[in-house]
This record gives sequence, C-alpha cells and structure tokens, in this order.
Amino acid sequence: MEKSRRQQRLAFILLFGLWLPCCFTQTTPSNSATPTPTPSPSPSPQPRTEKLKVRLAGYPRKHNEGRIELFYKGEWGTICDDDFSLANANVLCRQLGFVSATGWTHSAKYGKGQGKIWLDNVLCGGGEKSIELCKSRGWGNSDCTHDEDAGVVCKDERIPGFVDSNVIDAHVDENKIEEVRLRPVVAMAKKKLPITEGVVEVKYKDGWAQICDIGWTIKNTRVVCGMLGFPHERKVNKNFYKLYLERQKNYFHIHSVACLGTEVHLAACPLEFSKANATSACTGGMPAVVSCMPGPLFMQNSGLKKKLKISSNVRLKGGSRVGEGRVEVLKDNEWGTVCDDRWNLQSASVVCRELGFGSAKEALTGGRLGQGMGPIYMNEVKCVGQERSIWNCPFKNITSEDCHHMEDAAVRCNIPYMGLENTIRITGGRTRYEGRVEVLSVDSNGTQSWGLICGESWTTKEAMVACRQLGLGYANQGLQETWYWDSSNVTEMVMSGVKCTGSEMSLSQCQHHKTVSCQKAAAKFAAGVICSETASDLVLNASLVQQTVYIEDRPLHMLYCAAEEDCLSKSAAKANWPYGHRRLLRFSSQIHNIGRADFKPKAGRHSWVWHACHGHYHSMDIFTHYDLLNANGTKVAEGHKASFCLEDTDCQEGVSKRYECANFGDQGITVGCWDLYRHDIDCQWIDITDVKPGNYILQIVINPNYEVAESDFTNNAMKCNCKYDGHRIWLHNCHIGDAFSEEAERRFEKYPGQLNNRIS
Ligand SMILES: *[C@@H]1O[C@H](CO)[C@@H](O)[C@H](O)[C@H]1NC(C)=O
Ligand SMILES: *[C@@H]1O[C@H](CO)[C@@H](O)[C@H](O)[C@H]1NC(C)=O
Ligand SMILES: *[C@@H]1O[C@H](CO)[C@@H](O)[C@H](O)[C@H]1NC(C)=O
Ligand SMILES: *[C@@H]1O[C@H](CO)[C@@H](O)[C@H](O)[C@H]1NC(C)=O
Ligand SMILES: *[C@@H]1O[C@H](CO)[C@@H](O)[C@H](O)[C@H]1NC(C)=O
Ligand SMILES: *[C@@H]1O[C@H](CO)[C@@H](O)[C@H](O)[C@H]1NC(C)=O
Repeated sequence: MEKSRRQQRLAFILLFGLWLPCCFTQTTPSNSATPTPTPSPSPSPQPRTEKLKVRLAGYPRKHNEGRIELFYKGEWGTICDDDFSLANANVLCRQLGFVSATGWTHSAKYGKGQGKIWLDNVLCGGGEKSIELCKSRGWGNSDCTHDEDAGVVCKDERIPGFVDSNVIDAHVDENKIEEVRLRPVVAMAKKKLPITEGVVEVKYKDGWAQICDIGWTIKNTRVVCGMLGFPHERKVNKNFYKLYLERQKNYFHIHSVACLGTEVHLAACPLEFSKANATSACTGGMPAVVSCMPGPLFMQNSGLKKKLKISSNVRLKGGSRVGEGRVEVLKDNEWGTVCDDRWNLQSASVVCRELGFGSAKEALTGGRLGQGMGPIYMNEVKCVGQERSIWNCPFKNITSEDCHHMEDAAVRCNIPYMGLENTIRITGGRTRYEGRVEVLSVDSNGTQSWGLICGESWTTKEAMVACRQLGLGYANQGLQETWYWDSSNVTEMVMSGVKCTGSEMSLSQCQHHKTVSCQKAAAKFAAGVICSETASDLVLNASLVQQTVYIEDRPLHMLYCAAEEDCLSKSAAKANWPYGHRRLLRFSSQIHNIGRADFKPKAGRHSWVWHACHGHYHSMDIFTHYDLLNANGTKVAEGHKASFCLEDTDCQEGVSKRYECANFGDQGITVGCWDLYRHDIDCQWIDITDVKPGNYILQIVINPNYEVAESDFTNNAMKCNCKYDGHRIWLHNCHIGDAFSEEAERRFEKYPGQLNNRIS
C-alpha cells in the first residue's frame, strides 16, 4: 500500500514535470451576470503552417535538460539517437531558448517517450535555425524504438529576449488532474467573481468529479487555493454544505489527499484514484469543500482590502501579465534582484503568495522576463514553501561578482479567474493582437451590447490596460485613428474620455466621461490597440552619469550646429554670436535595452529627418528630456528635448549588434545592447548658463511620451542630487526612477533644501 502510493506520487511528479504551464479553470456560474465569452479567433491546429514546437520531457530532468520531443502534425514525438551529435543538440537547445548545448544523451536516459519517433539519423551542421532544416530520414521514418530516444543538456543560459512559444499552448497530459475548479453551491452562485469558496472539482473525462473529504486537511485546502490564485485559505462551514451536497449525485474520482501544504499543484500531493464504482467510494464522507482568501488586488470588499497589505519589500517587474515578472527585493532602501541558482517553485510560491497571488505556476531562471540593472542581493534561495516572505527563507548574500543579471530569477503566479477578458474585445484588426477596442455594456433591461471607445485622448497608457485585460500582453501602440482597418461591421461609440494610470487590470477601473462626448464619432476615429507578448525596456546607467559629469564653457562659435538643433536655452538667441560662450553641464548617457524586444522608433524611415549639421537621421523627435529642477520641481534650466539617432554601441556577451546609424542604417537598440552618448558629443548636455548656484535635481527621462512600447515605464527616469557652486558641479545619489524605496525617494527629493544631509 505504502509503496504503491509512493509510486503513484512519483508518477505525478513525473507528469507534473511536463505541465509547468498547466492550465486550470474556474467555472463561471451559468446564472451569473457574467457575459458569455465571445469565441476568439483561436489558432486552429493546422500542422503544416504551424511552427514546429520543441520541448524537454522525461524524468529525472532539469529545466535545461531532458528528452527531446517535437510537436509535428498535431502530435508529440521523439528523436532517435542514431547518428546524434552535439551539433544537433546545439540546434535544439537554441530552439528551446538556450545559448548552446553542453551535451546530449542516448538510450532514453530521461525515460522512454510515447507516440511517434519523428526523426532519425539527424545530421545538423550546427548553425541551422531549426531541427527541420537538418538532414534526416524524413518525418516519421525511423527503425528505432523508444529505447533509443535522444536527449539534450543545454547550457543554463537563456538567449536574451527569447520567447518560448511552447509555453503559451503547451501540451497537457490527458491522463490525470488537468483542471481544478471550485463549484459554488446554488445559494451562493450569484456572487461575483472571483469564486473563493465551493466544492473542489477535477476534470474527469467529459465532466467533473469530486474529491472525497475523508482525511481532508487545511493543508490540502492551501494547495487548492494556491492553484486557483489565492494566497490564503480559510476554514469552511461544512454543515452548511452537507445537507445540500447529500442530495446531489457525486462522483468521487480522488480520495486520500495528503498534501504538505507546500505543493504548488494537487497533482504533487500524495493521493489515490478511485476504483470502478466511484459513487460509493466515499462512504462516511462528502465532497471536499474549500474556502480561499483572495489577495487585495482581487478583493471585492474594499474594507478588507485595506487591512490586508501586501509585501512592501518584494515586487515583480517586467512581466506582461498580472502576477508575473522578475523578482526584486528591497534592502537598505534600494531594490535589487535574485540570482537563479536553485530557484524553484517553492521559493517562487512564497513570493507569489506574499504579493497576494496564489502559488507559482512557473519559477523562471536565466533572466527570462528581462534583466534587472541594480544590485543582486540573494542567491540559492531555499524556501520550504510555508514562509511568509522570501526574506524568511535561507539564502546566500551575493554581490554582482558572483552572479550576473543574466541569471535573474522570475515567477509566473497563479491568479484567480476574474472574467475580465470577457467584457472587452477587439475587432477589425489584421491579427488577433490588434483591433478597435469594444467594451460590453448592459442596459437597464439587462440587454448586453458591444460598443466602441472614442479615440480622442487614447494613449499608450490606456492601450496598456486594454491589452492586459485582453490577456494579450503589452501595448505596442494605442491608436486614435483606425481607418485602415476593416470597418464593415462596426458598433456605436459608447465610451469616451478614458484615462488610466496604466497599471489598472481593466478599463472599468479607469476614469471616463459620464456621457459619451466624442468630437469625431465615426468608427475610424475609434480607439485601437496593437498588443504584443514582448516589449523593450530602456534603462539609463545612472552611475555612468554620476561619474562623467562636468562643466564646460563652450565658445559660441562652436555651437552653431547645436543652436540649429535647439540644444541651447532661449537666452542664447540674444547672445552676441559668435562671441562669448555657453555654460554646459555635460555627462555621458548609456541607455540599455533590458527588455524582451528590440527598441525601434515608431516612425518608419520615410519620415526620419536628416540633420545635415550632425550628418545623421533623427528617427524620434523626442527621445529624452534633460532637465534641472529646483526643490519644488520647477525647471530652472530650460529642459531640452533631445532627439538622437538610435543604434547599438555595444552589447553584452553573446549578443550581436543589429542597428547602426551610419549610411541610413536601421535604427534601434537590440535586447542586451546599449546606445552610448558620450559626454563630448554635440547636444549631450544641459545649458546652465542662466542657472544660479544652488542645489538641484538633475532628471533625465527616456521615451518620455511613451511613444514606443516598453514593458516598464517606471524605470525610464533617472535622477541625481546636483550641487552647483557657480564653478563646479557634483552629482550624488544618481538612481533610476524605481530603484529606491518610497521613504528613500522622499529623502532624496528633499536634498536641494538640505545641503549637508546626504543619503549614503
Ligand atoms: C455502486 O454502489 C452503489 C452503492 O453501493 C450501488 O447502489 C450501485 O449499484 C453500484 N453501481 C455499480 C455500477 O456497481
Ligand atoms: C547578509 O548580509 C547582511 C548584512 O548586509 C547580514 O545582516 C545577513 O546576516 C547576511 N545574511 C546571510 C544569510 O549571510
Ligand atoms: C427596455 O424595456 C422597455 C420595456 O420593455 C422598453 O420600452 C425599452 O425600449 C427597453 N430599453 C432598451 C434600451 O432596450
Ligand atoms: C457582422 O456582424 C454580424 C453580427 O455580429 C455577423 O453575423 C456578421 O457575420 C458580421 N459581418 C461581417 C462582414 O463581419
Ligand atoms: C554603468 O557604468 C559604470 C561606470 O562606467 C560601469 O562600470 C558599469 O559597468 C555600467 N553598467 C552596465 C550595466 O553596463
Ligand atoms: C518654486 O520655486 C521658485 C523659486 O525657486 C519660485 O519662483 C516658484 O514660485 C516656486 N513655485 C511654486 C509652485 O512653489
């Protein structure tokens, strides 16, 4: 008995290994006010046009090694090890998003696969983009058995910016617990989403089955709640359900569940499946019922919301969806990242729960949700899973010498089903990621109808919320005119004046006009979006600014070009050209793209402007703001709007340059590269000729008008305390906009008034 149970458990872990991106749903009560989801144009399985998918499978394996499986013609299959080579492994590892292979395995080292043996005698050169392009006997042509399944061991370093398409619609094993939901009992069915309490049900064949509650513990409840996106569990009044449930027909598919409470999925708990007659399999028990406590973000009751504060020394950055991102922790008032050695689902779950989400769906390594910039604080985090905060888990202190941002840890957390994507849709676009935004409204008679949003005042910020609500990632663009899209079937305009902060989970949380007021009410002026799974993220190197700052008194005769480009303050016009000089605050800026997509100017090259003086094209009118502010935030030096030519000056190891300004080349900044504006190039300054000695704040903002999509705009500003004595200039505390704790930021802002009270 004990043995078989352990085997069963092992089998689950094995299956569970395949499922990291596993799916689960919650039901929408049929009689609730939730609208029926519109069928989205989901990609139909057309194997021929579909991109080949590759995954690692088997046991025991790690995230970067395992049996190779290929998804072809709608079926997962393996590769035979005959003639296998490191070159093959290199091609496969790169397809999986790793930089290279360190080895390969034969004879089903990670266990035997199932189904087809898709390829045999594969002979890659090593440089192919896909295994499909290598020589082989052809698809499905093999004389091997699964005893010869090949595996790979990849170097544990991700290709920067790699998007794992498998993750989006990964295979789910048809066999075991693939979906878990809470079914509220009728009396409570009208309650709003999320559903926090009800009968636990698991998908079984074409229906749903219950779990026998004999021996059920609060630890089991914790696991179920975590899977469904809730950080905490609550006791439930069983008697309330008993009467009702006794009258129902139950099918007990699972019994004897014995979780430790630290598992991230029910399938990882010891449990048993029922034999033939399941209706009688729970004598003396009833269906398991659980109650969960949602995190503040998902709470309806705003009174409770205030009481439940989420962690203030842990945060997620750079994720495209709610509940995902790079893990950052606060220490000594400054945010830093976590190195990924030993990073696992247990530690990730602690982070998820302390932020008000459920358990972790994925623990991501290798900076897969973008790299941080600041300090790295923790390594080898080893949470058990019950800790209240990642700070309570054992870990090793670390410096940037031991670990690089390439190894930043990230998480994807389970979040509760809110149905938010059902009250919004996009239409008319050319792909499923773009279209005019339509919102669902319900009139006083309860009739549902879709309507458009007025394009006036619609910006990237509003588009960010719409894309998030649609589950389509980041906003690539917010459009005010959509005339070039199909308008054969447009609805009326029902909303206007939408104003979001950009962080809302749905458009309904943003402000909008009470009654529709839109000057151009035609559908071609409706608000549109282009969403994207990935985005760039620009960050300025703050310490370089601090290190390179100086003052130059530059003779006017050397500034004709700069004047033409508007790089001097207004008073320069009244100067006695070419005699005299301007006083310039100069510094270097190095702008890194730490996101997951290249940064490219919004305007196409046909609209770039040639600047004869400097001999290059400007692709963005306003790329950065350079300002000097006084204590109350007023600009004292005329902030000038710098436009540049964007290119890759240099890149981190393993990334090659792609953008170059010279010769009308393509402009942009590649993921993992940076664009350097040296202190001695024209216009790389602030004209401080008219500034009096004193204490100021130097502020640089990149992409200030959100013109180009980024995954994170909070890190676009860089600030320094600045002391100017009339002859010399000093910068202190240079930091990125989101690098400090709120408290430290407040102290920083006070600096101009308090000369001798620096933050160390
Ligand atoms: C299952 O068990 C119940 C109760 O013991 C019994 O009434 C029923 O006939 C059984 N069904 C089957 C298919 O054996
Ligand atoms: C890490 O360093 C801090 C001081 O910065 C120290 O208080 C702490 O005990 C150290 N933690 C570990 C696990 O070494
Ligand atoms: C709502 O119902 C009433 C009475 O049935 C009807 O007169 C009215 O036009 C309806 N309103 C809408 C917006 O459909
Ligand atoms: C227009 O909308 C109606 C109702 O939603 C639908 O039946 C019809 O197929 C649509 N027509 C086009 C051209 O999309
Ligand atoms: C930022 O600039 C400093 C000073 O030049 C340099 O040491 C550091 O490597 C730079 N940071 C990054 C991430 O390139
Ligand atoms: C800000 O400070 C400047 C002088 O430093 C002053 O002229 C201005 O009135 C102040 N503005 C506000 C809003 O306090």
